[in-house]
Amino acid sequence: MYLTITKIRPVISTSEMSLHRSAARAGAGGIFVHRDTPDNNPDTPFDFTEENKKRIEAIISMYPVGHKQAATIPVLDLAQRQHGWLPISAMNKVAEVLEIAPMRVYEVATFYTMFLRQPVGKYFIQICTTTPCMLCNSDSILEAIQNKLGIKVGETTPDKMFTLIEVECLGACVNAPMVQINDNYYEDLSPKDIEDIIDELKAGRIPPPGPRNGRFSCEPAGGLTSLTEPPKGPGFGVRPDL
Ligand code: FES
Repeated sequence: MYLTITKIRPVISTSEMSLHRSAARAGAGGIFVHRDTPDNNPDTPFDFTEENKKRIEAIISMYPVGHKQAATIPVLDLAQRQHGWLPISAMNKVAEVLEIAPMRVYEVATFYTMFLRQPVGKYFIQICTTTPCMLCNSDSILEAIQNKLGIKVGETTPDKMFTLIEVECLGACVNAPMVQINDNYYEDLSPKDIEDIIDELKAGRIPPPGPRNGRFSCEPAGGLTSLTEPPKGPGFGVRPDL
């Protein structure tokens, strides 16, 4: 069975006009062509646990009758959380439970970097290098990770602890530069921050996610300049009795 998607994303680096290519995804989503292997083929054992079958029923019930396909992403995510990654047999099972063509599932699984079509390390590092992060020097974060772990984009450390890939915008541009490690976002990073985070993970501790520069969430780094009082509630200044 063959799935082919080609996608080349040019990004101009501020430092040397370098060309980044999304071929880096090969490290997680796998090459864009599926070829059966002994560990990843339609006969690779996969079925949802009884607990997850109930979860799937609950997920599907959120969508109108006749629109099970809408549950493709959450059910794929469930399959991945159960198995750790998505062999083609898991994608086929998702298609089966949603009663849709397997190609409809492959289309989704090959498009989103969150879906892993081959095994990854215990800590899956996704570094964003899209424009806002690139302008905040995500190249320096990428370089720090590569130097610290001794791997390149698309590779996994020999001890299977870390996998590194380069991804498109992860929706935290205001906290650029940032990385996602498993389900956590680490934001407002310096090279030292990411080195410290990796050290913590190596020591078996999960560092608290969020900004590393001291600010709360995505509030201004220098403190609030507006909306500094508690909200007065709807209708204030409009209704004379308020
Ligand atoms: S550009 Fe990096 S999170 Fe949006």
